[in-house]
Amino acid sequence: MSFHASGRLVTTMSISALALGLSLTGFVAKAAEISISCGAVGAELEFCKQGVEAWSKKTGNTVKIVSTPNETTERLALYQQILASGTSDIDVFQIDVIWPGILGNHFIDLKPYSKGAEADHFKPIIDNNTVGGRLVAIPWFTDAGVLFYRKDLLEKYGASAPATWQELTATAAKVQEGERKAGNDKFWGYVFQGKAYEGLSCDALEWIDSYGGGAIVDDKGGITVNNPKAAAALTMAASWIGKISPDGVLNYAEEDARGVFQSGNAAFMRNWPYAWALGNGADSPIKGKIGVVALPKGGDAGKNTGTLGGWELAVSKYSKHPEVAADLVMYLTSRDEQKRRAIEGSYNPTIAALYQDKDVLSAVPFFGSLYATFTNAVARPSKVTGSNYNKVSSAFWNAVHDVLSAKTKPEAALVSLDSELKKIKRSGW
Ligand code: GLC
Repeated sequence: MSFHASGRLVTTMSISALALGLSLTGFVAKAAEISISCGAVGAELEFCKQGVEAWSKKTGNTVKIVSTPNETTERLALYQQILASGTSDIDVFQIDVIWPGILGNHFIDLKPYSKGAEADHFKPIIDNNTVGGRLVAIPWFTDAGVLFYRKDLLEKYGASAPATWQELTATAAKVQEGERKAGNDKFWGYVFQGKAYEGLSCDALEWIDSYGGGAIVDDKGGITVNNPKAAAALTMAASWIGKISPDGVLNYAEEDARGVFQSGNAAFMRNWPYAWALGNGADSPIKGKIGVVALPKGGDAGKNTGTLGGWELAVSKYSKHPEVAADLVMYLTSRDEQKRRAIEGSYNPTIAALYQDKDVLSAVPFFGSLYATFTNAVARPSKVTGSNYNKVSSAFWNAVHDVLSAKTKPEAALVSLDSELKKIKRSGW
């Protein structure tokens, strides 16, 4: 062994001995400063901050929180820019359940850090987050579209929670008429996400799936959206605009719909579960008056459904502190943290056992009554269309938006959507 070689060996050993010594005394951890990008819909940013602060206190690391645009579509564009530049500025990314196939190559495999924790999470989400055998993100919270309604108003008008969209349409019209006569001219029957963005893809998939019209692209990659059941679903949704839903719904995202419902100006709202905790907040005018059920069926032969949503945490492969970043991810996605977020913020856990936790169920009773809605939620075709998913979804939401704004008839919109999807697919996804 040459002097040079053994010299190097000694250096290597002493560096690792030093690192070990430092980490035992906590100095390595203290030195790290990382950043996380969190969502900011509703109270999301606040919940993220609280979790991050608790971890900082425990480990001595510092964390910068970067807030991102509310809409998932804009957030994706921003993340694509940041990640394509290869910058180490953001270590931990909060990513949508539909993005592992689009962004997965920019993230590290978290398996070496998870210590088997993935076994506690819903398996379909873990499968969704596994790209080419690599676990690119750990589930943080899951989502499914549900129907919020005003218990007090349904009682006042002698109606019950609707089983079908047809019933919803009739009840919404009745309550709207009554409330307007009683003097609230801002009152609407039904609010949802009708803007041309990813949220509309979620709502429209629910309408179509509830009619048995499939999920746009099937799990073998076949384009299925051009069918009579899908046309019937879109015809129904278009009939709401200007009748039980304001024209403005064509520009509503989640928070716009919640704004109308929570201020007491709508009978029904389609939204994600986070709206429950906020709607029952101390300052909410409709506190204690909210009911939640599965979204209605598309006619008697249809089915209850909800689109699968949710968010994951991933570590950038450009991070300078991947171990520290992975530790933060494991903390935020842990059972205790998911329990806190479920109770205080009505974020759906991704850990199955928490759906049996009595504190969780007493804070958010519909996590129990709608368990099947959450576990059988219909997935958008993001896995099968991989990196093309955003193109597929934007073709879909634009087609639906044209139908809702009466620019195109449903049948014609589906014919041209079908040919557009074929172009995106070409020889394969
Ligand atoms: C919610 C869902 C997410 C979805 C988005 C659409 O945040 O969790 O999966 O893409 O809404 O607006």
